Amino acid sequence: MMMIILVLLVALLKGVCGENFDEEFKITWGNERGKIINSGQLLTLTLDNISGSGFESNKEYHFGRIDMQIKLIPGNSAGTVTAYYLSSKGETHDEIDYEFLGNLTGQPYTIHTNIYVNGKGEREQQFHLWFDPTTDFHTYSIIWNPQTIIFSIDETPIREFKNRESMGIPFPKTQAMKLYSSLWNADQWATQGGRVKTDWTQAPFSSSYRNFKPNACIRAAGRTSCGPRAFAWMSRKLVGLELNRLKWLRRNYMIYNYCTDTKRFPQGLPKECSVQD
Ligand SMILES: *[C@@H]1O[C@H](CO)[C@@H](O)[C@H](O)[C@H]1NC(C)=O
Ligand SMILES: *[C@@H]1O[C@H](CO)[C@@H](O)[C@H](O)[C@H]1NC(C)=O
Repeated sequence: MMMIILVLLVALLKGVCGENFDEEFKITWGNERGKIINSGQLLTLTLDNISGSGFESNKEYHFGRIDMQIKLIPGNSAGTVTAYYLSSKGETHDEIDYEFLGNLTGQPYTIHTNIYVNGKGEREQQFHLWFDPTTDFHTYSIIWNPQTIIFSIDETPIREFKNRESMGIPFPKTQAMKLYSSLWNADQWATQGGRVKTDWTQAPFSSSYRNFKPNACIRAAGRTSCGPRAFAWMSRKLVGLELNRLKWLRRNYMIYNYCTDTKRFPQGLPKECSVQD
């Protein structure tokens, strides 16, 4: 009985606090510019005129729902990019990406999303947000299961990429992925097409992470184990009102969609664009 209560308590605490960053991640780039603080509950990445910084997960995930609360660089973040993504390794890697492109004070961040399958991306969609992502933490989620990939922010879906392998459209399914994030200078292209450069007098720039909740299947030593709560996301897809809300959001906040970029694909739009709903 005591044991059960203890297990429940630990589960409850994890539910509230998220995993310990010290156990789940390592800083892989930028030396002391990436920091894990507050007993593993907060992680910060910084960028200065010498280097950016980044981290990666110790674990490899093969399907899951992964939530992270992120607070982006406040003030003038023009020229900076905070990337947050799942990726496998190698030339034919798969990837599920968020990138947050900074902007001048008062100008909207751009949320860039992309999906790579077998080393090939070119599936970008970009959005503006319905809130200021720099004043508080917001939850950025990736749901990835055999049927679909859903990007959602504070439980509001912004993008769904369905598995349509039966129509010959590639879908990332066979490769386990680690979670990565990095903060770097990309002022050649990031902000307003590269016209606005990073203002180094504002450095160091910093984005923060907390409340990491990986509810995922873990790939280790050639095996995958999914944990008891996998049912909550394993067969998840958008239905009913959620689809209406996604349509509404795309109408109001989407600023780029590869599926409408006919100039870029003179040979014809990618196959999935004809069935994208
Ligand atoms: C980088 O910034 C520091 C602090 O503002 C400054 O002292 C230094 O000269 C800068 N270095 C370069 C290479 O611009
Ligand atoms: C920055 O603000 C401009 C003007 O509002 C907007 O067009 C652009 O999409 C924003 N984001 C980036 C990354 O340039």
